[in-house]
Amino acid sequence: MSTLKRTLGVCYYPEQWPREIWKQDAQRMVEAGLTWVRIGEFAWQSLEPAAGDYRLEWLDDAIDVLGRAGLKVVLGTPTATPPRWVLAKHPDMLAYDDQGRPRGFGSRRHYCFSHDGFRKEAAQIVTQLAQRYGANPYVAAWQTDNEYGCHDTTISYSPAARTAFQQWLRVRYEGDIHALNTAWGNVFWSMTYDDFDQIDLPNLTVTEPNPAHSLAFRRFSSDQVVSFNRAQVDIIRAHSDAPVTHNYMGRITDFDHFAVGSDLDFASWDSYPLGFLEDRSGMDAAHQKHFARQGDPDFQAFHHDLYRSVGGGRWWVMEQQPGPVNWAPHNPAPLDGMVRLWTWEAFAHGAEAVCYFRWRQAPFAQEQMHAGLLRPDSVAAAGLSEACEVARELSDTPDVVPAQARVALMFDYDADFAWAVQPHGAGLSYFGLVFETYRALRSLGLSVDIVPPSKRDFAGYTLILLPGMLYVPDALKRALHLCEGQVVLGPRTGARNSEMAIPVPLPPDWAGLDVTVAAVESLRSDTPVALRGGGYFTGYREQIETNAEVLEYCADGQPAFVRQGNFYYLAGWGDQPALRRLFDTLCNNAGLETISLPDGVRCRDTGAERFWFNFDTTAHSVAGLDLPAISVTRSAF
Ligand code: GAL
Repeated sequence: MSTLKRTLGVCYYPEQWPREIWKQDAQRMVEAGLTWVRIGEFAWQSLEPAAGDYRLEWLDDAIDVLGRAGLKVVLGTPTATPPRWVLAKHPDMLAYDDQGRPRGFGSRRHYCFSHDGFRKEAAQIVTQLAQRYGANPYVAAWQTDNEYGCHDTTISYSPAARTAFQQWLRVRYEGDIHALNTAWGNVFWSMTYDDFDQIDLPNLTVTEPNPAHSLAFRRFSSDQVVSFNRAQVDIIRAHSDAPVTHNYMGRITDFDHFAVGSDLDFASWDSYPLGFLEDRSGMDAAHQKHFARQGDPDFQAFHHDLYRSVGGGRWWVMEQQPGPVNWAPHNPAPLDGMVRLWTWEAFAHGAEAVCYFRWRQAPFAQEQMHAGLLRPDSVAAAGLSEACEVARELSDTPDVVPAQARVALMFDYDADFAWAVQPHGAGLSYFGLVFETYRALRSLGLSVDIVPPSKRDFAGYTLILLPGMLYVPDALKRALHLCEGQVVLGPRTGARNSEMAIPVPLPPDWAGLDVTVAAVESLRSDTPVALRGGGYFTGYREQIETNAEVLEYCADGQPAFVRQGNFYYLAGWGDQPALRRLFDTLCNNAGLETISLPDGVRCRDTGAERFWFNFDTTAHSVAGLDLPAISVTRSAF
């Protein structure tokens, strides 16, 4: 497989700084070994201070200064920050929260994806930029908007969303309201509709809405993001041959990133390991304390593997934390060496570029407490020297060779929507289940490809896992029947049809696997179900009827893990000891070599070598290698 030259970059906001320092900034970026500079994504007001009054000359100059210095520009479309005049012109463009309240102006991402007037304004500013810079030799890539969905902004309960949802339903059910009533089971509680225009959004109901209604609304909301993004991509492509990306966020799952990704040339994401640890990793206090200045050893890797898949193999880190952030409950500084480790970790997982956020810390506004590579007084901050170190290493060391992993883990955004609608137990989520599965696999030294639900060719995979994928299309079932790998289903795999109803015959209804989920239960955190060989089912468990070979029982005698041919069914949400143990045995039987790694050590195989990452402040000796504290080690196979 071919190698790619890995590069570094930085996010920069010329409109926030005096023009006199642009040139010096650009020179310092080049001296630091940076290749890319991303600009523009929040600059709408500076580009169009009043409707139709375009002031792009400053951006011409900024691109020119950066480009002449030797940098390649990623130009962002500024639609995440509609200026105040856009709202004055379209007072009903705001997104609404689930309490029916409009979300206010004064930060960002306040628009509703369904508002046609806003969409037209967005198309106009994107057109202006695409026309003017589409052939600019310094503009080497484009970014659409900024972090769709961030700050809980995918789902809007606005009047515009209501109208658009009704239209979406008309199309989905081909204008047949009886088809919708049947699919949703609206005979229950006399919820039958006579017409699509009677259907409200599933908020402010007295008790929970019909899960089919909620799932349809989440699917609609996701489609609105996809079509909003596609409109921008189409405009850019009409004027430019440069590749187009979007910068996704960590643990935002409420729109289908694969669907957005299919319109892009590559994926990118914004990696804030310390912010994520406390804000969204879901890890317990002891783990958070241990990794407070390093970040969770699996959280970034999971997203690297996910976005590699979203990008069809091509992906970047568009924003890399370089020091303390401002937005997590606490914002510690990374340990020395972590900025370098995070950067190399991204490269080992296949990133083409890593860009730091941001060049200089802003002394004003919301992110004045957020570190950059420079301090507000332009003196180098701690992260800069590590970025320079990686830049030097990139020119001195061999390139990373991409390779397919032997383990495939499916991630299905639609399943995440369905779990969000019906978690069945407090705190349970599809993301959590898939991430826990990933962690167990990674703790066994395995490299993992995260694959989309559209995947049909599983050649080369020894182990394929689909935990929690509530609706499994028949075409995917057929593809899995043809594959030679070991396929692990459950819990909740195939537990719903496409309309959120329990299928009969009962799940998983999998040809060649004699398993019927007869009953399900969710568990309080203080009442886990023990497994005979060690570890527990926590949160969720299923009682199955089966004649398959039982590989593991619950302590109460119920089958926990069964096998028939190359299909396995896991009848509960295993904790880490349980998952590690069951997967370890399975891998050993399937000829996949495992290594039991300490919590702070992870490895990742490329086509030519194995990367080792030690997140711990103590050295480890693993597989005959000495791994110093906070280190990156490359070893040949
Ligand atoms: C990202 C965002 C950036 C900046 C950064 C701060 O989520 O894309 O614009 O706000 O967080 O950490």
